[in-house]
Formats: sequence, C-alpha cells, structure tokens
Amino acid sequence: MATMPDRETATSAPTLDQVRAALATVNDPEIKKPVTELGMVDEVSVGADGVVAVQILLTVAACPLKETLTRDVTAAVGALAGVSRVDVSLGVMTDEQRQGLRQQLKGAGSSRDIPFALPGSLTRVIAVASGKGGVGKSSVTVNLAVAMAGRGLSVGVVDADVYGHSVPDMLGIGDRRPTQVEDMIMPVDAHGVRVMSIGMLKPRRDQVVAWRGPMLDRALVQMLADVFWGDLDVLLLDLPPGTGDVAISLGQHLSNAEVLVVTTPQQAAAEVAERAGTMASMMHQRVAGVVENMSYLPCPHCGPDHRLEVFGSGGGARVAATLGKRFGYDVPVLGEVPLDPRLRAGGDSGTPLLLSDPDAPAAQALAEVARTLTTGSRGLAGMQLGLSPVGR
Ligand SMILES: Nc1ncnc2c1ncn2[C@@H]1O[C@H](COP(=O)(O)OP(=O)(O)OP(=O)(O)O)[C@@H](O)[C@H]1O
Ligand SMILES: [Mg+2]
Ligand SMILES: [Zn+2]
Repeated sequence: MATMPDRETATSAPTLDQVRAALATVNDPEIKKPVTELGMVDEVSVGADGVVAVQILLTVAACPLKETLTRDVTAAVGALAGVSRVDVSLGVMTDEQRQGLRQQLKGAGSSRDIPFALPGSLTRVIAVASGKGGVGKSSVTVNLAVAMAGRGLSVGVVDADVYGHSVPDMLGIGDRRPTQVEDMIMPVDAHGVRVMSIGMLKPRRDQVVAWRGPMLDRALVQMLADVFWGDLDVLLLDLPPGTGDVAISLGQHLSNAEVLVVTTPQQAAAEVAERAGTMASMMHQRVAGVVENMSYLPCPHCGPDHRLEVFGSGGGARVAATLGKRFGYDVPVLGEVPLDPRLRAGGDSGTPLLLSDPDAPAAQALAEVARTLTTGSRGLAGMQLGLSPVGR
C-alpha cells in the first residue's frame, strides 16, 4: 500500500509488508514456528488511520493458547511505528488447511516413524532409570529438563511411567491436555520444556488404565512418533522403576538412547540399580552415568560440610564402578544430590527446585549433571552412531 508521508502526523501507517514481517516474529506457542510459515495468518488489512486488522486461523477451535497468540500478535504488530490499534480476530483452519499443515510439519511419509530413532537424528535421547521406586527419577528428570532448557537447549520430556505420571504435576501442568491437529499431538509446554505424559493419553485424569503388552507399546510409540516434538536437542524419558515392559519396549524402539541410572547411597538400592544398568546394556543402550540422589542431609547445625548420611553411603560409586567394569567403558558418577525438603516442595508445587531455588546445593548438583551431560565434556569416544553432542 502506497502511503505518502503525512506532514500532519509524525508517522504514517505501516505497509502490509511491514505488518507481515512483524507477524513473522510471532511463533505459534505450541508448534514454535512463525505463524506466517504455518498458514495461520489469513487476512491482513491496514487502514490509513493506522488500524491493523489481522485474522489468525487456529489449528483447532479448542486451542488452549488462543489468548497467548492474540497477545503476541497484538504486541508484535502494535510495536510498528504508525499503528494506532490492532484488531485480532480468530478463525479456525479448514480440514484441508489442517491436513496441509500436518503434511508440512511431518512430511508425507509414514507417521509411525520415531524421528529420534532415524539415522542422522541430532537429538540426544536420555532415559532416566532406576532399579527401585521412589529414588527420585522423576525429580531428577524434571530438574535436568529445566536446567538444560535454561542452557538454551530445546528439551522434551516423555513421562513413560505407566504407574505414576508424576512429571506433569512436578512441572505444574497436571490438568493440561495436549492439543491434537489431525493425527499429530502437540506436547504441552512447561517452563520452556515440551512435555508429553502417558497419563495425558487417558481421556480422564482419574481414569485407571492398566497399560500392558501391545497396548503399552503402542502408547509409548505414540508418544514418540505421533507427538510433534519439533527439533529437540535433548529428549529425556522418565521411566517407571525396575526393568519391566517399558524398559524393554523403549529398548526396542530407541536402541540409540543413553541411560542415566538414579540410585540412593544404600547398598541394597545400589544392587538393584545395577540391574537397571545391565538391562540397558542388554538393549544395546549406553549408560551415560549415575546420579546418587538423597546422598546426604546437610547438617542443620554445622552446615553442608558435615554430611549426615541418612541412607548410608557409597551407592552411586558402587553402581558406577560395577557397571563400568562389566561394560568396559567409563561410567561416571555425574552428581551427588543432597536431601532437601525444598526439592520435594518444588515437585509438589509444580516449580522445580532449579527454578525456585537455583542456589540450593541440590539444585547446583543437578545443574552440574545437566552441564556435564550436554557439554560432552566426558569422553564421547565409543558412543554409538546418532549420538552427537548437543549445543549446535
Ligand atoms: N533429594 C531429595 N530431597 C528431598 N526429597 C526428595 C529428593 N529426591 C526426591 N525427593 C522426594 O522423594 C519422593 C520420590 O521422588 P520421585 O517421585 O522423584 O522418585 P521416583 O524415582 O520417580 O519414584 P517412582 O519410582 O515412584 O516413580 C518425592 O516426594 C520427591 O519429592
Ligand atoms: Mg517417578
Ligand atoms: Zn553437624
């Protein structure tokens, strides 16, 4: 639109191109790509009075993030010189438009492919496993996820715990359900992390589903293949305790995954943790390291230098040494995470300790684990193909 500079008003209305350029800076909150590339911008008009009208097409009518989208569009266009008002109206894509989008995002190929298992995948897949329940897998997973996201990485979390599904609550999204576009499921965003839980595949939160056998396998594949993860640097998988169906199923579908073993310092816990590591090796997965959780309680009187060994000591080192000897490669202890009531409270409130109390020793220990895992500072020699260090 050719508007001549107006001598009366300081700035003239923006051109359509300028408005389109501003819209190109707005990402769809779920797909995380510019709305202009996704065919979500329908009509745009600019009035001489500086009123800009934008029609945005939602992928589905029930899009839970329409307010975010409206706000982001208004802010981006409103920031242009000469705009007096932004009118955003929301429409919904037609079936054809939605199919086009699905095609564009996933390609025309089979939707049953797990992108992380394809040769050349740049995503590090790290499964968090333990022999015993309650040792802190889920707590470690969510804190590592936000720590990695805080380091600028694009991070996804799959809650593959068929019994627990504690990840969504620990990230404050216990009641959220994913949006579905055609056969694609959009992960739910929490603290900058993309999350999908096996619990989200249930129609109702309180419903009990006995995930087993082929049904369990299908649900796991669905979370990996039908969820639109986008380009991830890291995918963390929170496994149920032990060496059951889930570990076997994931081992079959993701043999390029690495395994992070979580244990407590207790000798008995260390013994069962070794089994989880051995299982990983049977599935041809590499053990990336061991995290010893609930390592000690900082003495309330003397301070952190006096460690109260509530659950004994040495479990992490023992698992690492045993697995290292068995597999013939170095299995490091990546961190010793102390007991901290704030870590539990953070899980209950939905804000991981890494975000609520980043200076807490437990948070620092977990941040260090995240750093070691993602900077590739440990030897990457001998890693299987497809495991490229992240941080590109
Ligand atoms: N370092 C810690 N300090 C204090 N509390 C902790 C710590 N680690 C975990 N917890 C608490 O212990 C409980 C069990 O932790 P979490 O749910 O992470 O373990 P899990 O291994 O995932 O358990 P499950 O086997 O049931 O899935 C939670 O209430 C959690 O908040
Ligand atoms: Mg758990
Ligand atoms: Zn003391």
